[in-house]
Amino acid sequence: MKNNRLRNVSLAVLMVLSAGYAANAQTNDGAAPVVVAKVEATTGNLAPTPPMGWNTWNTFQTNIDEPLLKGMVEAYVSSGMRDAGYRYFVLDDGWMTMERDQNGDLVADPKKFPNGMKAFADYVHSKGLKFGIYNCAGNKTCAGYPGTRGHEYQDARLYASWGVDFLKYDWCNTDSLNAREAYITMSSALKATGRPIVFSLCEWGNHQPWLWAKGVGELYRTTGDITANFDKDKRINNWTALSVMTILDKQPAIAQYNGPNHWNDPDMLEVGNGMTFNEDRAHFSMWCMLSAPLAAGNDLRKMSAQTQGILTNKEAIAIDQDKLGLSASRISSDNGLEVWVKTLADGGLAVCFLNRSATPQNISYSWKDHPFKNETVNLDVDFSKVNYKLHDVWTKKDIGTTKREFKQAIASHDVVMLRLSK
Ligand code: GLA
Repeated sequence: MKNNRLRNVSLAVLMVLSAGYAANAQTNDGAAPVVVAKVEATTGNLAPTPPMGWNTWNTFQTNIDEPLLKGMVEAYVSSGMRDAGYRYFVLDDGWMTMERDQNGDLVADPKKFPNGMKAFADYVHSKGLKFGIYNCAGNKTCAGYPGTRGHEYQDARLYASWGVDFLKYDWCNTDSLNAREAYITMSSALKATGRPIVFSLCEWGNHQPWLWAKGVGELYRTTGDITANFDKDKRINNWTALSVMTILDKQPAIAQYNGPNHWNDPDMLEVGNGMTFNEDRAHFSMWCMLSAPLAAGNDLRKMSAQTQGILTNKEAIAIDQDKLGLSASRISSDNGLEVWVKTLADGGLAVCFLNRSATPQNISYSWKDHPFKNETVNLDVDFSKVNYKLHDVWTKKDIGTTKREFKQAIASHDVVMLRLSK
């Protein structure tokens, strides 16, 4: 075991060096400025648009097994999620046994996966989906299962042999590990397998991954864990689960780092997990405005028609998947009513009115009085000079042009999401 671990670590070091990583690394995780690493072996083009999928964690935590998950895969297809563009089926924490085997390999829990993980991955692939799995950079995962530390290349090879297409890599039990170095090691291990595996960094934004994760992985969490609450954080023992609005408010400051193959990840979706319809719709719309990865986290077998309608709204998804991959910027905020704008590849715009207040409001918006300007997200529009047609993404109706003042009621905790085109 110990020898194996040493071999893994030295191989990791060699691979990192040979990949051209200019070691300018911090030796601790303190507040020193982060230096962008040179990683020559980039991850290629595995996520030109934000990855879309489904993940076990938000609803099931570690209570997962093959029969449950097969039902979920079936629902993924029959509900239209796959046809709407969702692709990844990701097992989060809790898929393995509490110990590695005598060779130091991870083992899929035989009670949960009696046919083994390769058979389950084959099943997922047979449905036209991609298969994702979870582990952690520390000694143990957040739920206490064996972590990958010291086994990076061994675990990467195992995942590749199972046909894994996506790895979420967490940050619990990491002691004094340097985040950037740890993620680069695992990234190199994945690349060394020769299998394209999307690498999803999950260190909660603690070490500013937006400054160094481009080329290391395709997406990186920007915050702590989400909870199904619109605007109230939730204290759980010694940590705080974040509301949708708390997470949203952390995104504008890092908007400029978002783009193809390096996505700011504001965490998985809580649509269908207990918020109101309006709140779910607002949450989903704002994630689309951010060009965020879309990982549904609800029980797909039991979702209501409303939830399904939100998650599979192709017009909203098209805004999320816009190939420029720009994040939205908050243009104004007045009495809880915000206006967010995103530039689209076809020369159009997505505009989202968001009512965060506890009461309904009336939108009354004279476009020509609100030029949109924000250099970081490539925005420069003067409506007194150019006219756009308006299309409502949720009612799916054309609703006039920017020549006229826009007047509409908006419910509490809801959005009006428009696509503007010339
Ligand atoms: C962390 C992550 C979550 C989830 C759990 C699993 O909290 O941020 O998204 O993966 O671990 O234990």
